[in-house]
Parts: sequence; C-alpha cells; structure tokens
Amino acid sequence: MPQNKHQNNDSHHVPVLLDEVLECLNPQKGEAYLDLTAGYGGHAGAILEQTGNPDETVLVDRDENAVRELKKRFGDTVSIRRQDFLSAAQELAGEQERFDMILADLGVSSPHLNEANRGFALQLEGPLDMRMDSSQDLRAETIVNTYKEAELADLLWKYGEEPKARQIARLITGNRPFTTTTELAAVVARAWPGRSRVHPATRTFQALRIAVNDELQLLEHGLPVWLGLLKPGGRIAVISFHSLEDGIVKRLLAEAAGDRYDAELKLLTKRPITASPQELVFNPRARSAKLRAAVKINKEREASNAY
Ligand SMILES: C[S@@+](CC[C@H](N)C(=O)[O-])C[C@H]1O[C@@H](n2cnc3c(N)ncnc32)[C@H](O)[C@@H]1O
Repeated sequence: MPQNKHQNNDSHHVPVLLDEVLECLNPQKGEAYLDLTAGYGGHAGAILEQTGNPDETVLVDRDENAVRELKKRFGDTVSIRRQDFLSAAQELAGEQERFDMILADLGVSSPHLNEANRGFALQLEGPLDMRMDSSQDLRAETIVNTYKEAELADLLWKYGEEPKARQIARLITGNRPFTTTTELAAVVARAWPGRSRVHPATRTFQALRIAVNDELQLLEHGLPVWLGLLKPGGRIAVISFHSLEDGIVKRLLAEAAGDRYDAELKLLTKRPITASPQELVFNPRARSAKLRAAVKINKEREASNAY
C-alpha cells in the first residue's frame, strides 16, 4: 500500500486534517502547546516537531490506553495528564498556565472503534460499554437496560437526532436485557426495515456514546475555560465529528468573537474546514470532521495600533 504523509506508523490512529490544523495553529519555535484530546499523539507529534518545546507541552486524554501510548511515545519529556478536558483545563487555569496553541480533536479514536471489547462499534460483537474513561461507573449497558422508556426516547432524540426515537425506545424496553452491541443493533434495526446507506442503529449508538461520556456538557463547559488559557495572540483549533458538537463549537466561538468592542477572539475560519478528497482516500474517518479555529485578540497590540 502506498504511504501518505497523513499515515502514522507509530499508532493505529491517523490524525485528521493534520495540514489544516498546522496551518491554523501556525506553530512557532519555543511556543507552548496544550492538546486536550491527545489520543495517540498524531497532531501533538507534528506540532512538537515545530515548537521543539516539550517543557511547555501538555497532553490530556481521559482514556488509559491512549495515555499509555502517549507515555511510550513521548516519555516524560512532556506533561501528560489522564483527565477529562474540562477538569484538566480548570486545573491548568488555577495553576496560571497559559498557551500559544490549544487543540481539541473531539470524539473517539480509531482504537475505540476497532476494539470490540470497548463496545463503541455496532458491527463488532462486544459488551455494551462505550466508556472512554474505563474507571467511570456509567456504561451503555446501564442506560439500555434500566432507563425508563420515556427517558430513553428523550436521549435518542436529543443526542442521536433519531426520528424514530419513541419506537426504538419501545423496542429496547420490550426486548431487555441486552448484553452485547450486536444484539442491540439487531433489535434497533427492526425500526428501520429495508435498505439504508448507514446502519439503522448508527444514531442510537451515537446517542448512547454521547450520554455515557457526557460529551456535550463537557464541551459546553470546557470551551469557555479553554479560551481563558490562551495567551494574547494564541490560537485555538477544534475538530468535531457531528452536528451537535459542531453547533456548540460554532456558537461559543462566535459569541467570543462577536461584534463587541471587548471581543476576546477573532475567527480564523468563517466556515468549517473539511477534509480534502486526497485525505479521504487514506482516512475515511475524516469524512465528517469539521475544523474551526480562532485567535485570541492581542489587546495590547490592538491598542498600540490604534494610536
Ligand atoms: C479523535 S481522538 C484524538 C486523536 C489525536 N488528535 C491524535 O492525533 O492521535 C479523540 C481523543 O479524545 C479523547 N477524549 C474525548 N473526549 C475527551 C474528554 N472529554 N476529555 C479528555 N479526553 C477526551 C478520547 O479518549 C480520544 O483518545
């Protein structure tokens, strides 16, 4: 198979929109970098190569396998934290840390999707788990087997935008208990007879994953804290993989970049950047990726320009 610059032989995860992230973050020698979802270090490795500044590099991930791989790859040259990105950012803010570049590449990694025992993939038989942080209590199994029908329907509608949320919630409560991903996917598929381009349980699995990992709440509360960690002139880039996430990123960045005289940010992307056809050949996971970026306004420079 031909090699491509987007491929990364050190991990099973190929970083998405790598060139575009580098263009938006524009790393300079000696700059400080915070990666809030460092995963297998694809983006972080490329950025570190350009900053050459491991002492001021912080890599965060809530998944223990990812953190183990990050430690193998970077040793203790950089600071690696196993935490969710909201509490990590709150702690860093308390420690008065500030960064020139911040990246959040949201969602799951390829190992999450490829390893059946993590329970994220609807076509691989595995336990109904879906936890990114395997030390947390809530698993998909608890939601599927214990939530009331109305609660389940709300969750499928809110986090999966599933038009047949009620019908699927009824099918789930009527066919309990479930132990595996494939059992659940087969029952959900009954709500959507006939052929479809995507598996009929895709939206249900997305909704469960978002609920198990509290993904939208953490993003909603995390992003404003991240902005506070940027130095003046610092750049932030966020990659999202579905419309619910992208909606939050778009709204919060736009609010901080609003027309007010005291706006905190300037948007670097008016519309989200998506993957090129070349990247999609090597990395189909990039299909739904959307990148938005902004720069923290340097008030001192703005003021000195004004006079
Ligand atoms: C798409 S992968 C990132 C891949 C990474 N950019 C790379 O190049 O290898 C997303 C990672 O974010 C982590 N993650 C997702 N939500 C998180 C959160 N709220 N806090 C910390 N890590 C999170 C996941 O465990 C996963 O490893």
